Amino acid sequence: MRDVAKHAGVSVSTVSHVINETRHVSTDTRQRVLGAMDALNYQPNRLARSLRVKKTQTIGMIVPDSSNPFFSEIARHIEDYCFEQGYSVILCNSDGDLDKELFYANVLVEKQVDGILFVAVGLSEDNILKLNAQRIPIMLVDRQIPNLPLDSVLADNRRGGWLATQHLIEHGHKRIGCITGFSDLTPSSERVIGYHQALEEHNLGIDETLILQGDFHLQSGYDRANQLLDMNQPPTAIFCGNDLMAIGAMRAAGGRGLRIPDDIAIVGFDDIPIAQFTNPPLTSITQPLKKLGRLSSQLLIERIQKKDLDVAQHMLEVDLAIRQSS
Ligand code: RIB
Repeated sequence: MRDVAKHAGVSVSTVSHVINETRHVSTDTRQRVLGAMDALNYQPNRLARSLRVKKTQTIGMIVPDSSNPFFSEIARHIEDYCFEQGYSVILCNSDGDLDKELFYANVLVEKQVDGILFVAVGLSEDNILKLNAQRIPIMLVDRQIPNLPLDSVLADNRRGGWLATQHLIEHGHKRIGCITGFSDLTPSSERVIGYHQALEEHNLGIDETLILQGDFHLQSGYDRANQLLDMNQPPTAIFCGNDLMAIGAMRAAGGRGLRIPDDIAIVGFDDIPIAQFTNPPLTSITQPLKKLGRLSSQLLIERIQKKDLDVAQHMLEVDLAIRQSS
């Protein structure tokens, strides 16, 4: 910084104000300093600055499955928004494992991130309590943790389950299978509640043998759909708790020579980009991926910059995207 100041003919503090934008500097002076930085190939020392201002301008994000387009899409929108606001994002994949989730939570603490966007593996209460004790702002995204007074942004999963099931009932289906995600996840349990509500509203009995637990991955959709289709009285439609399981279910039906939707109607959840390109295109519940990413980032950055905000839960609307699979 001293060499830059000498080269530009200004004081070291002026160079610091130009780099950190901590005080107005005339355009001419600013240009001279930036020119000197280029000429000397000077790179400000971010670590030194972060220790001084106790901010790293970095946000951590933990997701349970970075290979799932739902999470990679949300991560892209989060990174877009944070970069616009001058923050870098460190993305961690907990791979659905609580121990790995805690490991990465600790890594982010060591990296002194300014805040964390957290998509819980499942029974993550202990991990989050440990993280919360570090007094780093946390934003829960997509998945609630009951009894934890933390900010959250998620979709209206119960209405999504209702919309999917109501749509199938309106198309004459009475025996509707349901392949869920892990039952300890709020999105899974809420979607099943919506499924139950729609059936009850039409006085259709609930056959619990039609509800099977998957794990949000392709293979579980394929395996559970085969179980449902092997039943003595198989369902004529299947509501899947996410699009990857729905794609697995479509493969199971195709493997049996069943026509979709004529022999078996299928509805997914998330409306990830690939849902429009399956054969036939998949009916799904649209989660507001862009808004989930941008709003959670915006609210976390607001909390980083002004810690005494009230804790708030934000629930976003979902929609039904009707395509040929139903
Ligand atoms: O596809 C992954 C699922 O897990 C999504 O439905 C999302 O809501 C997450 O909870």
